[in-house]
Amino acid sequence: MMVYDKGTGELQNWVLAEKDFDVQYIRKCEAVMCQGNGYMGVRAALDEHYEEQWRGTLVAGTFDQYQTEATELPPCADLTNIQLFMDGEALDLKTGESSDYWIQLNLKTGILTRSFVWTSPSGIKAEFLFERVVSLHDLHLIAARATIRFLSDCTFAVEAGIEGTSRIGDPHFHLVQAGQRGELLQYVEQTNQSGISFVLTSVCEMKVNELVQKSAFKQDEQNIYQCYQVNVKQGDTVVVEKRSNVYTTRDLQTQNLSVTALADYAASCLQGYESFSFNKIAQASADAWDTKVWSMKDVQIDTQNQIDQLALRFAVYHLTVMSPVHDNRMNIGAKGLSGMGYRGHSFWDTEIYMLPYFIFTDPKGARSLLEHRYHGLESAHKKAQENGYCGAMYPWESAWTDDGEVTPSWARTGLLEHHITADVAFGVYNYYEVTADEDFMNRYGYEIVFDTAKYWQSRVTYNEQKGQYEIRNVIGPDEYTEDCDNNAFTNYMAHFNMTLAMTYYDKLKQINPELLQKLSDKLGLSGLYDSWREKTEKLYLPKENQDGIVPQDDTFLTLPVIDITPYKQGKAIDFDLNVTQVSKQADVMVLFLLLEDLFSSEVKKKNFYYYEPKCFHHSSLSLSSYSILASDVKEQNVAYDLFEKACVIDMGQAPYSSDDGIHSASLGGIWQCVVLGFLGVRLYGGKLRIQPNLPQKWQKVCASIIWQGQRLNITATQDTLQVMNQGADPVEFLTNNKSHLCNSHSSVEVKEF
Ligand code: BGC
Repeated sequence: MMVYDKGTGELQNWVLAEKDFDVQYIRKCEAVMCQGNGYMGVRAALDEHYEEQWRGTLVAGTFDQYQTEATELPPCADLTNIQLFMDGEALDLKTGESSDYWIQLNLKTGILTRSFVWTSPSGIKAEFLFERVVSLHDLHLIAARATIRFLSDCTFAVEAGIEGTSRIGDPHFHLVQAGQRGELLQYVEQTNQSGISFVLTSVCEMKVNELVQKSAFKQDEQNIYQCYQVNVKQGDTVVVEKRSNVYTTRDLQTQNLSVTALADYAASCLQGYESFSFNKIAQASADAWDTKVWSMKDVQIDTQNQIDQLALRFAVYHLTVMSPVHDNRMNIGAKGLSGMGYRGHSFWDTEIYMLPYFIFTDPKGARSLLEHRYHGLESAHKKAQENGYCGAMYPWESAWTDDGEVTPSWARTGLLEHHITADVAFGVYNYYEVTADEDFMNRYGYEIVFDTAKYWQSRVTYNEQKGQYEIRNVIGPDEYTEDCDNNAFTNYMAHFNMTLAMTYYDKLKQINPELLQKLSDKLGLSGLYDSWREKTEKLYLPKENQDGIVPQDDTFLTLPVIDITPYKQGKAIDFDLNVTQVSKQADVMVLFLLLEDLFSSEVKKKNFYYYEPKCFHHSSLSLSSYSILASDVKEQNVAYDLFEKACVIDMGQAPYSSDDGIHSASLGGIWQCVVLGFLGVRLYGGKLRIQPNLPQKWQKVCASIIWQGQRLNITATQDTLQVMNQGADPVEFLTNNKSHLCNSHSSVEVKEF
């Protein structure tokens, strides 16, 4: 049973907790309480073993392919185990008796704690406290501490180490060497196909009533441990501290080191561990959470419904943990680094659902994610060529930059879901307009936009009869409608992509003809401009019909309509999804959000009420898009309702819903619901627009964003908006269609909207 806020006092609305040990929730807790720092994600596996666990530490970018399966991000050997034995009986909460059980994730500090009292089957009783931190200060470091206060005498034993056997999934690794290195344990393993070496190093220290104990070493084939055995008395306190680090030969900073040199380096980083206790590591990490994240990215909500605040912090917490923005060869997985779902692959989720958070709060991180797409251009060329097109056709699912299309072969999305190419171009546009980062554009951005537009002009087909270009045989965002023609979202986005290329072409011609020439030579742009012009002029863009409905594709509106209410309430699907007017997720709505000025508010509202009752929201991406759209059309209660539902996609009570990882896009979507939706912060026609629409239950929202290098603190109540410009340059913004100028280090207040 998830408890939404265990925090009190200063920690109110910062602590996500689970009360009672319940095996049904073991894997969900592992994912929703996953710790990490973008370099690695460590599932919140309980320190002792249970068969229900899916222990796992995932290191961003370390993809490997098993046989002919799609490449995936495999879990490395486990560093989180600490097994405790009392008179020979292993701590096992399924046996004996336990009470006062709590597992809690403090979002503010990133520290995971678990506490309980346990009496073993033979009657030995003790109080247990486990703590773990994955440092945000030193991205390679994990620290854990177990504190046991004995309420009975017993022989107490500990085994803690590095386990190759306790992980799930296909076999991806072979052991290179494992053993002792002075005080330390060191374990080197390598991925079988991609040849990435992992160096895992660990060390424990145990004290009984402050007295340091001596450990022994134990090894079986795939596991190495430090072991302790002592006799303890009632009232004794035992503290076990375990520190570990993780390095791989894929790491940017150490990529020139041999495996031996990397192992030496990793060991040297853990030497002298007396000088960095658990407390010191935890404090340094908590300080990093404060300076890198909360002091700049916390969104504060004054609400009657406390879960809103916690949900926002939960989203920002996970957006930090899941995103490898320190390395521009990497992207964010659909489950972040919190589970094996979607094999660690990235989708359009990044550009459309997560990127806006980075664009507005961490432009450097956003740039890194887009640079990753630049490095993926070669793969995109390959995919285009294989499919008979020109330019860059991005893979639907991507892993390592040169892996190309990695969608599993059974999924048709890899063949047909083409809108991702325009989504990437949209991401570039969004980033550039909000940040004004010319350097990025000159090095990467223009090229991505030209190359993707080059693809679209080769992708469209001419319909002689209708005298128009069309985009046939696609899957749009709604994946329940396969093989459709002229998916509105895809057509409009392709049109946007080609139009953007022309705009940038014209601009470069004026301001940087040398760069244009260079790109023209590189990409073969000659003649393309005319093709873009002709194709954008004649590309079919579905308009609203006489009822005001924008057809999702050529046939959707002609299909039978069925009432999906019983199915939403649990009835098993007994009809063909592909030939009925039902959708998996927001489709036309996403178009309204991205290209908002192409449609009137009235059309948006009509379409919202047409499509929403037909939508299952079976993809976690869906609710947030519908919520923001509802905000846009001033349907506040509806928007809030959908937001509330989005908030519990991961945090909710359903036991198995996040077993294979949190839903990254939905977490980006939660942030968007608040900042882009309720606070109304938007890029609009190249300008910043702030148009708050707070839900009735909210009194106030405060958020901080960065607009073209200037930090703005925005506070909105039901009827006032205050914008404080902390930057050195003035910022102009629109509210109620009126322009306001906010000078450096001053604020502007707008009333009544
Ligand atoms: C959704 C896609 C999404 C993918 C990864 C699918 O279920 O339909 O839109 O990109 O999940 O999150």
